[in-house]
Amino acid sequence: MSQLFIGQNLIHLRNDHVSYLIHILPGGVPMHLYWGKRLETLEPAQLIKHYGLPANGSFTTNNCAMDRVPGEYPSFGLGDMRQGALTVRREDGTTSCDLRFVSAEIDTEKQPLPGLPSAYGNGEQTLRLILKDELLGLKAVLRYTLFDDCDALARSVELINEGSETLSVEKAMSLCLQLPTRPYDILTLSGSWAREREMHRRPMLPGECSVGSIKGASSLQTSPFLAMMTPETTERQGEVYAFSLVYSGNFYAGALVDQQFSPRILLGINPDGFGWTLEPGQSFQTPEAIAVYSDAGLGGMSAQFHTLCAKHIVRGKFADQPRPILLNNWEATYFNFDHDKLVKLAKTAARVGVELFVLDDGWFGHRDSDNSSLGDWVVDRRKLPGGLTPLAEEIHQMGLKFGLWFEPEMISPDSDLYRAHPDWALHIDGRTPIEGRNQLTLDLSRQDVCDYIYESVSAILTENPIDYVKWDMNRNFSNVGSSLLPANRQRELPHRYMLGLYSILEKLIHRFPDVLFESCSSGGGRFDMGMLHYMPQTWCSDNTDAYSRCRIQYSTSLVFPPFAMGSHVSAVPNHQTGRITPLSTRGNVARSGCFGYELDLNSLTEEELTEISQQIKAVKAVRNTLLYGDFYRLLSPYDGNDTAWITVAKDGSEAVFTFERALFLSATYPPVVRLAGLDPAARYRIEETGEEYGGDELMYSGLYIPISNGDHASVGYILRRI
Ligand code: GLA
Repeated sequence: MSQLFIGQNLIHLRNDHVSYLIHILPGGVPMHLYWGKRLETLEPAQLIKHYGLPANGSFTTNNCAMDRVPGEYPSFGLGDMRQGALTVRREDGTTSCDLRFVSAEIDTEKQPLPGLPSAYGNGEQTLRLILKDELLGLKAVLRYTLFDDCDALARSVELINEGSETLSVEKAMSLCLQLPTRPYDILTLSGSWAREREMHRRPMLPGECSVGSIKGASSLQTSPFLAMMTPETTERQGEVYAFSLVYSGNFYAGALVDQQFSPRILLGINPDGFGWTLEPGQSFQTPEAIAVYSDAGLGGMSAQFHTLCAKHIVRGKFADQPRPILLNNWEATYFNFDHDKLVKLAKTAARVGVELFVLDDGWFGHRDSDNSSLGDWVVDRRKLPGGLTPLAEEIHQMGLKFGLWFEPEMISPDSDLYRAHPDWALHIDGRTPIEGRNQLTLDLSRQDVCDYIYESVSAILTENPIDYVKWDMNRNFSNVGSSLLPANRQRELPHRYMLGLYSILEKLIHRFPDVLFESCSSGGGRFDMGMLHYMPQTWCSDNTDAYSRCRIQYSTSLVFPPFAMGSHVSAVPNHQTGRITPLSTRGNVARSGCFGYELDLNSLTEEELTEISQQIKAVKAVRNTLLYGDFYRLLSPYDGNDTAWITVAKDGSEAVFTFERALFLSATYPPVVRLAGLDPAARYRIEETGEEYGGDELMYSGLYIPISNGDHASVGYILRRI
């Protein structure tokens, strides 16, 4: 259970495992005191001495003493020489802010953040720490919720202009805290298209180490995530302080090591390109940040994130339901399809046990390639003469559900929409529009644009029997300007875009509660907890090669559970890498997420189709475990030649084990993998071999893997407790 204690000058939030402490210094400066393993002492008085500050109340903010204070929400300009969390400019052009304690209040329930995705509570209290700068008339409400069932803390900040002058917010982080002086490694997830979220771990040195995006989305290139850990930390042991954002737009996540060797952590909207004008009476709400603590290594950290995603982020009817096994036509046909070709594909899909047929890009306007029609959400009668309904109905009659691809945030210069509304695209007068994938970005800061998107997607979903939507977004921002925003609000555009998007999604998921939404952004370019709040699964990567997916899914699992990751079996040679991997390996790797296929089933042999039916049958039997079990990483593709993980059913009754060896090695012992998450006292039968072993053997001495010759061989086992 989480508890909230408000003392004389100290606030202590804790649950059964972790504590978060804030100290209010004399004069009212809020100071971050502690985040880590639970402290039994409610008011640990000597903690303040860790920062060389007098515990006797003689602290004064003069003489730049602020430079040694681990500020809870420090500002630029008043003696703290490090990067702050908040920068506010007055009408006279000066920049300073001095937030002092006013009160600490408690909400009995965690409230949603207006217009933004946020973690929801299950009865946990929320602390509201109210601060004010009297000179500016600026009030800040810092919100904190520590969850009962996972060691995660949600934080956000609301700024309210209670003064009489206009204030310009130039930077407003969601979270700031300081970690104790110690050596740390920092881990971030960075990559690119088709190589998302690669793990990068290095020692934290004095200075700044940060990741961020100014691309308009959380991005393919880097995730809104960082973890600080003691250098000895491994997958299974050691302390980890990890951070993420419930946000899908431009972000900054950084650690700054100062002269005291004590890292300050900052997360929030990227200040680059950001600004927000606060007229008297107006307020601004930052996105929510998440802090997770683990003393059980990176595996422990992931367990906290996975519970957070499952119990506090993902919503709706599909949140804990079996996800349908799908066939997507993209890599099977690309833009080259018609009604009959799709029906033929769906028939074979139904025969092998697929449950959902997804029609990807190319069904609307006159889109035969990626250079037209985005924005014109009208079915292309050349390809589908009867429209979508007869197709969907025919597919339904085969016992399959029917899904559809959209890219609603975009506009092609070659579209009726652009010809009618050129000013609906982001643009800067006098500058040539910069296209990305031959398209422009709609200006979602405009209400009329948001209404158009909502209405046009709703019309298709109302007029046709559609069970699933893949919501794509395939380019970065450029020419970031809006026709409607006044000059002093143009820097609000990237965040206003996100608010517009979230408002559309919130309305759509409530209007169409029976539609399963999958988020996509050129693959995993917007894989974040913000999107997960609206759509319970995200397409992990356009790279469907099994070996690449070992890496991508391994590192994605640091933050996200299997039920959040779309993963499909595709053709060989793989369309992104040219690599050839066995069908069994493609199946073993892809089934560790929201499983599906993305290839021309009609070009496969009967033997391959039989193998696919067997894969699907096996997945159906253990689907709940694969999606919602406890996920343990066992061998990292970032450390060597092998990848292994296991998902264990919550009730311990079964587990699914996956092993992949990238390159075959001659003359070595066979691989032996020590499993995790099993009951050492129980016995397990391996369904595929009939062998029986004790949980202790499997975890302590390990499971022998009969790996076959050839590169990218794999083993996938279902273990049942007997
Ligand atoms: C993006 C997606 C793909 C596919 C194409 C269609 O690249 O990531 O899965 O939907 O768009 O154009």
